[in-house]
Amino acid sequence: MSDKLIHVQNVSHSFGNTTVLENVNLTISRGEFIAIVGPSGCGKTTLLNLISGYENPSSGSISRNGKLRMVYQQDGLLPWLTVIENVGLGIRHLRDAEEKNRQLKDAIELIGLEGFEQHYPHQLSGGMRQRVELARALTGESDILLMDEPFSALDYLTRIKMRNELVRLLKERPRTVILVTHDIEEAAQLADRIIPLTTRPATILTEKRIELEKPRSLTDPIVTEAVHDLLISLSPGSLPATEKTGIKAEEN
Ligand SMILES: Nc1ncnc2c1ncn2[C@@H]1O[C@H](COP(=O)(O)OP(=O)(O)O)[C@@H](O)[C@H]1O
Ligand SMILES: [Mg+2]
Repeated sequence: MSDKLIHVQNVSHSFGNTTVLENVNLTISRGEFIAIVGPSGCGKTTLLNLISGYENPSSGSISRNGKLRMVYQQDGLLPWLTVIENVGLGIRHLRDAEEKNRQLKDAIELIGLEGFEQHYPHQLSGGMRQRVELARALTGESDILLMDEPFSALDYLTRIKMRNELVRLLKERPRTVILVTHDIEEAAQLADRIIPLTTRPATILTEKRIELEKPRSLTDPIVTEAVHDLLISLSPGSLPATEKTGIKAEEN
């Protein structure tokens, strides 16, 4: 199988007269963790919907190779199903009941929610719900996880915890990941490659590679420097001039 799982070629997309994405090119290889960052409303979710095939691009083409799973911001779980039933959605077609139960047990163990199998989503904290959401997405076979702001509804500390949780889960169950986020720190802690999108119509600014083992500390100099660089490129003038990097505030 090809090592290139996703190939986005010259993609532009409009809703009516509004052009949301303009000439986007992106190739993603197996095993990569990509973060797409950019301001609210710039077209991140639209790009993810095009990649998933949920929507067709106005022009250009997208090819995908492999099975996709989606992780949502919140309320991705079905409220009328229990934790174990929600996790089981990904393997509902599996006929072998014994195998199914084994996979479900593994998934619950993986996210540390033993004892909560019969709880309903509203009986869980936001962080627990997102762990169930991750377990659902990682149960059964898939190649690519598409995550749309999966932690942005959580409080700051839970969000940071969930980043480490995601790194741990992916070590156990490796997947190619496309994470959409407006949280630059999150991108810098998690991604091998960060794709910054401009405001609408969105195009890709120079991408940033981060070669640093995970889990990464939020205060690792490589992480803080990446955050700094991304802020400068996404929002020029948003930071004061610093001696350290020799970057001077532009007049704006
Ligand atoms: N189905 C749609 N119909 C019309 N406009 C849409 C639709 N989906 C998104 N948009 C518009 O496209 C722009 C980008 O939206 P979106 O991709 O959701 O941004 P982001 O995820 O970066 O916040 C926004 O201005 C939004 O209002
Ligand atoms: Mg969005």
